[in-house]
Amino acid sequence: METIYEILEAEHDQVADLLRQALSDGSKVSFTKIRLKTDPHMMGEEKLFYPVLEGEEGLRELISRAYKEHNEAKALIAEIEGMDERNEEWIAKLNELKQSIDHHVEEEESKIFERARNVLSQEKAEELAQEYIEFKRGYMNRVETGKPPV
Ligand SMILES: [Fe+2]
Ligand SMILES: [Fe+2]
Repeated sequence: METIYEILEAEHDQVADLLRQALSDGSKVSFTKIRLKTDPHMMGEEKLFYPVLEGEEGLRELISRAYKEHNEAKALIAEIEGMDERNEEWIAKLNELKQSIDHHVEEEESKIFERARNVLSQEKAEELAQEYIEFKRGYMNRVETGKPPV
C-alpha cells in the first residue's frame, strides 16, 4: 500500500510542473491550478501529518519552521491572487512563490520525511495516506459543490 510520503511527493512534483507552466505562459488560469493543488495539500499536512510529528524530539523545530513556510507561501498566493496577470510584477511574484515552495519541498523531502520514516511505522504511514485521501476527497467535493472547503 502507498504511504503518505509517496502521495505528498507525487503532489510536490505536480506542483513543480504547474509552477513551470505558470511561469512560461504567465496566465492566471495556470496560477489558479497551483492554488487548487497547494491549498488542500498544505491543509492536509497541517491537519493530519504535522500533528503526529511535532511532538517528536528532533522534529519539533522542523515542523514549526514548516508551518511558517506554509504561511509564507499562503501569503504570497493570496497576494498573487489579488493581482492582475498583466501586472509587471506578476512573473517576479510567481518566481518568489516558486523559490519559497521549492525551498519548503526540499526541507520536507530531505529532512522531515527522512526523520518521520524513523519515527512512524509503515502501518502508520499507510494509515495516514488513507486519511489524507479521504480528506482530499471531502475537500474537492465541497469545492465542486460551492461549499466552503473546511
Ligand atoms: Fe508538502
Ligand atoms: Fe508542506
